[in-house]
Amino acid sequence: MVLPIVTPRLEIRDFVPGDRPPLYEYASDPRVTQYLWWGPFSEADTLQFLERTGRDAKARPRANFELAVVDRAVGRVIGGCEFLSRRSIYQEYEIGYFFRPDAWGRGIATETVRALLDFGFSSIHAHRVYALVDPDNTASAQVLARIGFRLEGHLRKDALIRGEWRDSLVYALLADEWPSGGSRGSVSLSEPSNISLERTRKRTLGR
Ligand SMILES: CC(C)(COP(=O)(O)OP(=O)(O)OC[C@H]1O[C@@H](n2cnc3c(N)ncnc32)[C@H](O)[C@@H]1OP(=O)(O)O)[C@@H](O)C(=O)NCCC(=O)NCCS
Repeated sequence: MVLPIVTPRLEIRDFVPGDRPPLYEYASDPRVTQYLWWGPFSEADTLQFLERTGRDAKARPRANFELAVVDRAVGRVIGGCEFLSRRSIYQEYEIGYFFRPDAWGRGIATETVRALLDFGFSSIHAHRVYALVDPDNTASAQVLARIGFRLEGHLRKDALIRGEWRDSLVYALLADEWPSGGSRGSVSLSEPSNISLERTRKRTLGR
């Protein structure tokens, strides 16, 4: 990944220690963490997060990207996003995104996820990107649907959120369904997914 990622309104970059105040502000807000397994953050959680992301950023090869989202117009961190390696042999990644409430309703999340997908499919050669969404988190589901993610499934009580087992909806997008992902060779969407996977494996193994 070439960081920072710059979009018309945003800069997406690694967190730095100086991000502690704006990170704490949104990550400690119960409106932001309502549907998430983590949070609300304490001051100590915020420090631990910054230490961990600092270590992850130095890992080579780098598997996980937990990144700050900066509103370029005001030069302020307004949220975060993540692109996390899950089943690495299948080039599969999970995404997440979190914004302070006064940034909602402006298309910022949509712009962020589009930028993450451009990065993930073209720079990291992801094959499949998915998000897990609480069924009550309709704003998040709408972001994903707007971008073209498909609803693939419904996991039953797979997430423990503040003591309550919650379901998750699985939304996913494949490289072949994303313009920049197709540049590595496209596969017809009508083909069975195992053929697509096999081709991806061959590409990975250089055969
Ligand atoms: C989930 C979350 C990121 C969604 O935020 P959001 O503001 O609804 O999403 P966007 O930033 O893409 O904005 C979309 C809204 O802005 C509007 N909008 C305005 N300008 C827009 C633009 N240029 N492009 C797209 N949408 C735009 C859309 O019409 C939409 O409004 P609507 O909800 O009334 O239809 C936000 O609610 C959040 O941070 N929640 C807490 C953390 C969380 O739950 N994360 C998801 C975990 S799976």
